[in-house]
Amino acid sequence: MKYIPFGQDDKELSEIVLGMMRIKDKSVKEVEELVETALSVGINAFDSADIYGRGRCEELLGLVLKNRPDLREKMWIQSKCGIRIEEFTYFDFSKEYILQSVDGILERLQVDYLDSLLLHRPDALMESDQVAQAFEILQKSGKVRDFGVSNQNPMMMELLKKEVKQPLSINQLQLSAAFTPGFEAGFHVNMEGNKAALRDGSVFEYCKLNDMVIQAWSVLQFGYFKGNFVGNEKFQALNQVLDRLAFKYGVTPSTIAISWILRYPAKMQAVVGTKNPKHLIEASQATNFNLTRKEWYEIYIAAGNDLP
Ligand SMILES: NC(=O)c1ccc[n+]([C@@H]2O[C@H](COP(=O)([O-])OP(=O)(O)OC[C@H]3O[C@@H](n4cnc5c(N)ncnc54)[C@H](OP(=O)(O)O)[C@@H]3O)[C@@H](O)[C@H]2O)c1
Repeated sequence: MKYIPFGQDDKELSEIVLGMMRIKDKSVKEVEELVETALSVGINAFDSADIYGRGRCEELLGLVLKNRPDLREKMWIQSKCGIRIEEFTYFDFSKEYILQSVDGILERLQVDYLDSLLLHRPDALMESDQVAQAFEILQKSGKVRDFGVSNQNPMMMELLKKEVKQPLSINQLQLSAAFTPGFEAGFHVNMEGNKAALRDGSVFEYCKLNDMVIQAWSVLQFGYFKGNFVGNEKFQALNQVLDRLAFKYGVTPSTIAISWILRYPAKMQAVVGTKNPKHLIEASQATNFNLTRKEWYEIYIAAGNDLP
């Protein structure tokens, strides 16, 4: 496993993060096995959100931690808030809602503090002073150690920084070999056509410039939760390249797809959403080697992209 330095005390975080979004139907025993497997292969970072399984995913992890309090200090635990699922889904970055959400998260997880809290999806009605007050209270009370965002563009982060004193250390963004809108505009700068449209405001470059950790989510998915592209006949050219490189590096095609994420030269983490300990071990092997520049581009093109 490879690690990146994080936060004021340069804590070492694994480049692979175990995402807990899909575990709601697992038993406590199965979740414990997943966490144990993660730790055994050097994965020390765990991602959740208050809405996953409408709270059930955090409850399950909390039950594991209740049975095994020895695990807490080995784990860096992150959660996210700001999405409200009621009669319909909307976003809420008000001070009251952030504070209320964190209390719920800590209760479900049965822990005293979160290592990191992310604002899950942008709220157009965000008032940065509200977020600033919430973060200040959470940090001073010791309930949250570090802060970040998810799915935010550079201007949104600048707006937050106008009031928020704590560093925004993380941006969690969707990225996979088959989901690359964030890179496309960068390749087509100064060209005609839609591909040059800068929709996300150079968010990857912004995160690098500001030394933020980029946490890629849905690293094996195409579209917005449309399914896994590895072994999928809709992605024949991509799978041919993944298969060939898997043979070369002695790993599985999924491992190659995850190593493609980590090859981007920033503080990268791949958040993997497997519930299967065997697949988690495969993911952990993605940090054992570096794809060459040519291999990275070959995968990008085989996924159906073009370059000027
Ligand atoms: N910030 C956001 O807005 C946001 C949005 C979505 C997700 N997330 C975070 O990102 C995490 C990952 O998202 P995701 O679950 O969509 O990502 P993912 O890892 O791309 O997808 C997980 C799916 O792929 C399968 N899979 C994983 N590894 C595999 C392998 N080696 N071989 C075959 N199948 C494999 C899993 O099945 P098995 O269980 O059978 O392995 C599962 O069905 C979430 O848990 C969450 O923490 C964040």
